[in-house]
Amino acid sequence: MKVYFKLLLTLSIGISIISCGEKKETDATGNPINQAKTSVNQTPKELGKELFEGKGMCATCHKADQKIVGPSIKDISKIYTDKGASISLFLQGETDPIVDPSQYEIMKANLEITKAMTEAEVQALETYMLSIK
Ligand code: HEC
Repeated sequence: MKVYFKLLLTLSIGISIISCGEKKETDATGNPINQAKTSVNQTPKELGKELFEGKGMCATCHKADQKIVGPSIKDISKIYTDKGASISLFLQGETDPIVDPSQYEIMKANLEITKAMTEAEVQALETYMLSIK
């Protein structure tokens, strides 16, 4: 009888732990569910970062402050700021390269991605890149 009671106790504790765990509203990655709201209220800089590292695949060739395949974001940001030029116009294929024109062919292919983006998305990419100093 004692053993039976112990088993029952263990079982009920077990169940209460499981149901307690279910009450937490988290998604598969463990983030609170209501975080979805913040992606709607994303700032342009946050959207730009997301596009830069995600859909745009820009991060494969551009690192914040190190030249890899492409110039660092810092270098691009500095040159565009110094010259008062527009990154978004470049990404829309409307202006010529000013950072490293000799390597432009490698960058040019990516303009197909950015030209297909909305004005807001391209602006967000510019905001993000210029925020890196
Ligand atoms: C395959 C590698 C590669 C990828 C991917 C890439 N870039 Fe580049 N990018 C380059 C290279 C190389 C240059 C230097 C040539 C140049 O200045 O045009 C460059 C230059 C640039 C410049 C400076 C252009 C100028 O005025 O000279 C900007 C701005 C830029 N990239 C933004 C982006 C963005 C935004 C993305 C993602 C949509 C991206 N790049 C993806 C290789 C890449």
